[in-house]
Amino acid sequence: MKILLAGGSGQLAQELQPILLSSGEVIAVDRTRLDLSQPESIRQAMAEIQPDLVVNAGAYTAVDKAESEPELANAVNGIAPGILAEECEKLGASLMHFSTDYVFDGSHGSAYKETDSTNPLGTYGKSKLAGEEAIRKAGNRHIIIRTAWVYGNGGKGNFVKTMLRLGKEREEIRVVADQIGSPTWTGDLSAATSQIIPLLGPETFGTYHYTNSGVCSWYDFAIAIFEEAEKLGLPLKVQRVIPITTAEYPTPAKRPAFSVLSSVKISALLGTHPPHWRQGLRQMLAREVK
Ligand SMILES: NC(=O)c1ccc[n+]([C@@H]2O[C@H](COP(=O)([O-])OP(=O)(O)OC[C@H]3O[C@@H](n4cnc5c(N)ncnc54)[C@H](OP(=O)(O)O)[C@@H]3O)[C@@H](O)[C@H]2O)c1
Repeated sequence: MKILLAGGSGQLAQELQPILLSSGEVIAVDRTRLDLSQPESIRQAMAEIQPDLVVNAGAYTAVDKAESEPELANAVNGIAPGILAEECEKLGASLMHFSTDYVFDGSHGSAYKETDSTNPLGTYGKSKLAGEEAIRKAGNRHIIIRTAWVYGNGGKGNFVKTMLRLGKEREEIRVVADQIGSPTWTGDLSAATSQIIPLLGPETFGTYHYTNSGVCSWYDFAIAIFEEAEKLGLPLKVQRVIPITTAEYPTPAKRPAFSVLSSVKISALLGTHPPHWRQGLRQMLAREVK
């Protein structure tokens, strides 16, 4: 099987690349070969590579910056996935795509199912929802995996890496405690993604939620990061982590207060539940110290 992995330099793509090798030949492309903001670049790469499966791990992920760059965010997140899906339909290929908990407004109060109503609060969430809709409009041969609070060892940065950096520099760190979600390690998300590949087909195509199990606030997550980092002997200066409210930390983009995703549907498909988020965190940090 020939697998085209788009967004090849991101944290999820870097983790996926070696794992996907167990499913076939992997052609990982970054924006220099397949620019998701340019429809012609997408069509040309698809025509040249002629994949059997496209895994799109590329996205415009700067949630706050998206508020001032809505057109670029929409080109990459809203339009490009639909073009990938159209090209897949033409080739008889399948598409695996990633979306976000930020398609929800966070007012639900219990874990969101795939069938729950969406209502994104910001430009990033709106653009990702537009991408989902464009994929569904193009046809049926897709899996969309909505995930959340993603962190890995590769890529440019994430919450865990930011906390480790701040924890080295500062004695006191203030972290938002009134946004609840499920941190998700790229290692577990990539493993689940690759387990779906042999199952791809008309009975399994559709939308799924995948996060690590368990829920926490960003504050809880920061505390856990420092506890686990300390156990591993990572250098830390931080003495106090202070819980603050979202109102005390204003950002350009509004974020959902509660964006826990139910993994029941994907667990039934894979016959296993996602590992707890703290387990994923331990594995990620263990790699950081190597
Ligand atoms: N990170 C999270 O917390 C989170 C949460 C929920 C869902 N997700 C979803 O999970 C998926 C993977 O995200 P991630 O965390 O791996 O993000 P990431 O580390 O920011 O990676 C995104 C990748 O997309 C690439 N990209 C951006 N614009 C592009 C363009 N015009 N053409 C080609 N590539 C382009 C980036 O390339 P450059 O490095 O060159 O910019 C980067 O390599 C995305 O669909 C994201 O929406 C992420």
